[in-house]
Amino acid sequence: MIKNQNIVVTGGAGFIGSHLCEALLREKTNTVICLDNFNDFYDPVIKRNNISSFQKHDQFNLYSLDILHKEDLEQIFEKENIHTIFHLAARAGVRPSIQSPKLYAQVNIEGTINLLECAKEYNVEKFILASTSSIYGNKKKVPFSETDPVDHPVSPYATTKKAAELMCYNYHHLYQIPMACIRFFTVYGPRQRPEMAIHMFTKHILEGTPIPVFNHGKCERDYTYIDDIIQGVLKVSEFDFSFDIVNLGESKTITTLDLIKRIEKACGKKAKLELIKAQPGDVEKTYADITRAKKVYGYDPQYPIEKGLHMFVEWYKHL
Ligand SMILES: NC(=O)c1ccc[n+]([C@@H]2O[C@H](COP(=O)([O-])OP(=O)(O)OC[C@H]3O[C@@H](n4cnc5c(N)ncnc54)[C@H](O)[C@@H]3O)[C@@H](O)[C@H]2O)c1
Repeated sequence: MIKNQNIVVTGGAGFIGSHLCEALLREKTNTVICLDNFNDFYDPVIKRNNISSFQKHDQFNLYSLDILHKEDLEQIFEKENIHTIFHLAARAGVRPSIQSPKLYAQVNIEGTINLLECAKEYNVEKFILASTSSIYGNKKKVPFSETDPVDHPVSPYATTKKAAELMCYNYHHLYQIPMACIRFFTVYGPRQRPEMAIHMFTKHILEGTPIPVFNHGKCERDYTYIDDIIQGVLKVSEFDFSFDIVNLGESKTITTLDLIKRIEKACGKKAKLELIKAQPGDVEKTYADITRAKKVYGYDPQYPIEKGLHMFVEWYKHL
């Protein structure tokens, strides 16, 4: 665990960001500076609740701001002596990016540049970018490795994340800022975004309403439990990297229909299915090669899907 640091977590009130803030706060010598604009991509009340339990911490500072406002960022970097930036703030999700490509480009590329500029101007020691498995597009070769070419993203979301990774490389090359781009493979667990599959499927099953299942349930995903993602992100952040790209997943892939069967089991209830055609922008398969994360960073995922789904459903039932 990193110690004695002032750490910025952008998007710190979101699903993954709030878990990261919580983990970083466990080390009492850290100060965590959470930046979030509480936008309405999903209900901002959920984001307020995500961080409510640790907002009373002396070591936790919350700033409600938009990363597109560079002057607001500068005021914070001027005031706090920041060692590390975990940059998670983004417009996430493949399908909405097809409706709003400009917004995705603005937040995910221009927003990233604003943070990179701050990293340069205020001598930040490490920069860690939340990237995504979507970058791999519809690759046939599995599992997906960090050295695979990623020149054919199939959604604006994936394209903006690829651009953000390239920008990170630019800033590393030009200003020698240590950079790690971590590609998350579909993350789930408590606080998962409400529009994501596992959250939505659980809601439909427990309420007895039909689940719209795209691509007739044939898509395959590598689902990663949130605690494994946080473990991996923290392990990478402790390391003395120069520039690196790292996959974090479970390296197990299952179809949507298989996923639904497992959620049915965790809920103790059958699902009603409405099988429909594939959605544009969705990739057919994701499957992480995690050799690098394991070998270089000591990543050691602990949550097979049954265990993780059980934890998720328990959390959901107590919402
Ligand atoms: N959840 C996944 O499965 C997954 C997979 C791959 C990559 N990622 C990436 O991980 C990161 C976190 O994802 P998440 O699932 O927690 O999403 P999330 O939407 O819950 O979190 C993102 C947070 O960023 C904030 N934000 C967005 N735009 C902002 C802006 N302009 N200024 C300030 N704050 C802003 C949002 O309010 C939100 O709280 C994102 O970068 C996402 O692309 C997530």
